[in-house]
Amino acid sequence: MAGLFITLEGLEGSGKTTQQKYIVDDLKEKGFDVLLTREPGATRLGREIRQLLLDPDWSEMTPRAEILLFAADRAQHVEEIVKPALNAGKIVISDRYFDSNLAYQGYGRGLDIDLVRKINLWAVDYLKPDLTIFLDLPVEVGLARARAQTVDKLGDRLEREEFNFYQQIRAGYLELAKESERFRVIDANRSIEKVKTDILQEIKEMI
Ligand code: TYD
Repeated sequence: MAGLFITLEGLEGSGKTTQQKYIVDDLKEKGFDVLLTREPGATRLGREIRQLLLDPDWSEMTPRAEILLFAADRAQHVEEIVKPALNAGKIVISDRYFDSNLAYQGYGRGLDIDLVRKINLWAVDYLKPDLTIFLDLPVEVGLARARAQTVDKLGDRLEREEFNFYQQIRAGYLELAKESERFRVIDANRSIEKVKTDILQEIKEMI
């Protein structure tokens, strides 16, 4: 595949949304053809799945069902959006990808990581990112930021989880980063400017 596939990962409140805009602007300024996308919910099917996944009313959703719904969203996303863009030579930036599933459902829910990885690799037809930026920060900082932005202070189905769930997710991401060369851990508990500089530097080196 001709393009470059970059994924952004992080807990709620890590600043992914702010930073992705800077990345896109920077790359466009340099003349690259960039596509910004996200999970869950980038496709028509994905938007329906996203509704199910985030609706607090689905309190009976089992962890296995949750994994498969996220993976179904991802399968559609890769086939419909990511692969065609990469084939067209674009730089694809995805706000979350299968590492979210490994961190949230695998480590967060305490399910078999190898199995979650296999399910995901199959779902995406073995398409791995070239570079994964993990915006890391203490859970309490992230949750405080995220809750300050949520109108009803309770958040969506996942945001209602306990502190401990997020601790496991953070530890999981750090574990994944240790195992994989495509990961870059960026300290997101700093000014937006500093985080931005580091991310852009990593991407520049990659390109
Ligand atoms: P979203 O509103 O897109 O949040 P964010 O801005 O944090 O990305 O909600 C997505 C939620 O779904 C978020 O809590 C992370 C979670 N998630 C998983 O648990 N597993 C996954 O595979 C993905 C893609 C997301």
